[in-house]
Amino acid sequence: MKYQHRGVTIWLTGLSGAGKTTIGKAIEKELSNYNQKVTLLDGDILRQTLCKGLGFSKSDREENILRIASLADSLTSEGYIVVVCVISPYRAQREILKQQIKNFIEVYVNAPLAVCEERDVKGLYKKARSGEIKNFTGIDDPYEPPLNPDVECRTDCESVNESVNKILVKLHI
Ligand code: ADX
Repeated sequence: MKYQHRGVTIWLTGLSGAGKTTIGKAIEKELSNYNQKVTLLDGDILRQTLCKGLGFSKSDREENILRIASLADSLTSEGYIVVVCVISPYRAQREILKQQIKNFIEVYVNAPLAVCEERDVKGLYKKARSGEIKNFTGIDDPYEPPLNPDVECRTDCESVNESVNKILVKLHI
């Protein structure tokens, strides 16, 4: 018999450079072994399509999350494991998602700002520090960390595998 699982949204929140996409891709790869419908929704990619034209003001970020959450909700209802990688900086909005999406796991992808800035994978922290980019999360725009996440991944001191395994445990796979 094929392995069956009801749909779920795994919502990865955290600073830019904390490791959301790395973990998200690793979960996607791991779950592909389970004959399971899995899809990855990544902020950087969706901002070129579904969320094109949105900026980084509070209202645009909220609209970004609303659209992505709506898609995640539909896919979850269809039985998908939906892995969402977005900063989603506002706690109150994430709290609403927990009510909206039927089966929801909040994952805090946590690395100290100094570590994310040191990594600076996209070179954006440097630009934010020099003032070339305004309203950059963690520099001159807020990030409100989860107070009670379902899973916390400390990417500065644990491996990608360790992080993925913590999340899989919550999926009861
Ligand atoms: S969110 O705040 O609306 O959840 P989202 O995850 O979609 O953000 O997009 C964040 C990505 O946009 C970052 O990883 C980074 O590559 C890019 N980005 C560009 N400008 C900013 C900014 N001002 N703040 C944060 N991320 C930015």
